[in-house]
This record gives sequence, structure tokens and C-alpha cells, in this order.
Amino acid sequence: MPVAGIDVGSLTAEVVVFDRGEVLYSVIMPTGANSRAAAEKAMQKALDESGLKKSDLEFVVATGYGRISIEFADKRITEITCHGRGAYFLDSAVRTVIDIGGQDSKVILLGDNGRVLDFAMNDKCAAGTGRFLEVMAQALEVELENLADLSDQARETVSISSMCTVFAESEVVSLIARGLPREDIARGLHQAIADRTAGLVRRVGLEEKVMITGGVAKNKAVVKALNEKLKTDLIVPGEPQIAGALGAALLAQDELARKQ
Ligand SMILES: Nc1ncnc2c1ncn2[C@@H]1O[C@H](COP(=O)(O)OP(=O)(O)OP(=O)(O)O)[C@@H](O)[C@H]1O
Ligand SMILES: [Mg+2]
Repeated sequence: MPVAGIDVGSLTAEVVVFDRGEVLYSVIMPTGANSRAAAEKAMQKALDESGLKKSDLEFVVATGYGRISIEFADKRITEITCHGRGAYFLDSAVRTVIDIGGQDSKVILLGDNGRVLDFAMNDKCAAGTGRFLEVMAQALEVELENLADLSDQARETVSISSMCTVFAESEVVSLIARGLPREDIARGLHQAIADRTAGLVRRVGLEEKVMITGGVAKNKAVVKALNEKLKTDLIVPGEPQIAGALGAALLAQDELARKQ
């Protein structure tokens, strides 16, 4: 019996339709200004693509910061629980999950059974999140998708001293004006994200294995910097952005099983 999970984040909305132990369909769409409309649209697309009607879905769990506005959800569950569940399903050896999204980052510690033992979250400022990298890509006049490649060409690391996104942006602009190589600045920016994230990891303690989820997991330079900083080999799932929605779908399945 098909169920669905929907994760409406600050930048993207994901839907996972799940049935009989596997993902039937998943969709990733921009959230835009209206999270409710984004949720409707993403769900409709997932239904159209999987050939299902809304009434075919036996249970829908919503997560993400926009979960409150999703009227068609049967239950709303926090991102921590959903990301933990999604990551554990993808690899049951995972004990630490690092999720870096558009506006927050979180580290989740899982027990042997996949239950959440502890977590730490940064949702107070954009530093250490995808938003930080978006602002910096703009300042460096490079597409976000090419920021990691730029950083790969670096010979040195220009360290960025400002912790705050707004100040770091001015710092980057003045470093460019001083003629410092853009690739060296890019490496410094990825280093800054890794430092921030490592601070969050220290708050819960690192347990192997470690998985990275969220859109920033698609940035290879962040993954590399974190591997070096944390002295680990991060597991990057095939589609790291859907981990929260996948976890929500798995929890929907649990709810359904409980009801029956
Ligand atoms: N192809 C890509 N290459 C590099 N970075 C990417 C790519 N796709 C997405 N990102 C990064 O992912 C971020 C968005 O991540 P994600 O979709 O997980 O956010 P979100 O879930 O909407 O946000 P939040 O969980 O904070 O509410 C962007 O800010 C961007 O930095
Ligand atoms: Mg998210």
C-alpha cells in the first residue's frame, strides 16, 4: 500500500512515494515563496509520475520547516527524526548524520537500532549552510554547481576570518579586489563550512559511520573538506536531498502498520 513522505525545506521541497520496501518515485522542486503551493505542486508531480491518485496514498507524513502548512499530511514529524530514519534506511551502519540544507545544518547521533540519541542544530545564522555557499558563489561570480570545481584548482587556502555570512561576503569581495585567486578563496570558503560543521559534530560526538545528507552533500569540496577535518570517509547517498522525505515516507509506513 503506497505511502508518501514530503519534506518542505527553505529552498527545496521533496516528495517520496514508497511502497513494499522501495521508493516508487521521488521529486525535488524549489520551494519558492509559498511553501503550501510548493507542497501541492511537488505532491501532484509525484502522483502524476507514479500514476497514483491522492486517495491511493494510505498515509502521508510531512517534515521540514514548511510542514505546518501542509494540509493534506496525516502527521507532521520533525526533521531530526525523519533525516535519522532516512539515513539509517539507506545504510544501517550509519551512526552520525550530517544534514546541511539551505538555511540550517544539523548533526544527528543514532543508536544501534537507528533511534535518535542526540542532535545539535544551527538554525540561527546562514554561516555553515547552503545559503552561505550561494551568497559566496555569487560574490565569486561562479555558478553554485561549479564552486567545488573552482576550489579544486586552488594552490593555497585563503582563510576567511568572518564568521557571519554578510561580513564574509564583504571579505570575499575585498579579497577579490586585492587580486587573490578566486580558487584559493573558494577553498577557504569550503574550509569555513567544514569548520562550522565540525563544531556541530563535536557537540554530539562522532560515531562511525558518518553520512551526509541535504543539498550541500552534492558539493564535492564540502565533502572533501569535511573528510579531512573529521578524519572520516563520509557516505554520500545517491540522492542526498531526499533523505528527509524518505524518512518521512518510512515513518508513514510505520504509522500505517500501527493502524492496521
Ligand atoms: N548540485 C548542487 N551542487 C552544489 N550544491 C548544491 C547543489 N544542489 C543543491 N545544493 C546546495 O543545497 C542547498 C539546499 O539544500 P536542501 O535542498 O537540502 O535545503 P532545504 O532542505 O530546502 O533547506 P533547510 O533544510 O535548511 O530548510 C543549496 O543552498 C545549495 O548550497
Ligand atoms: Mg532540509
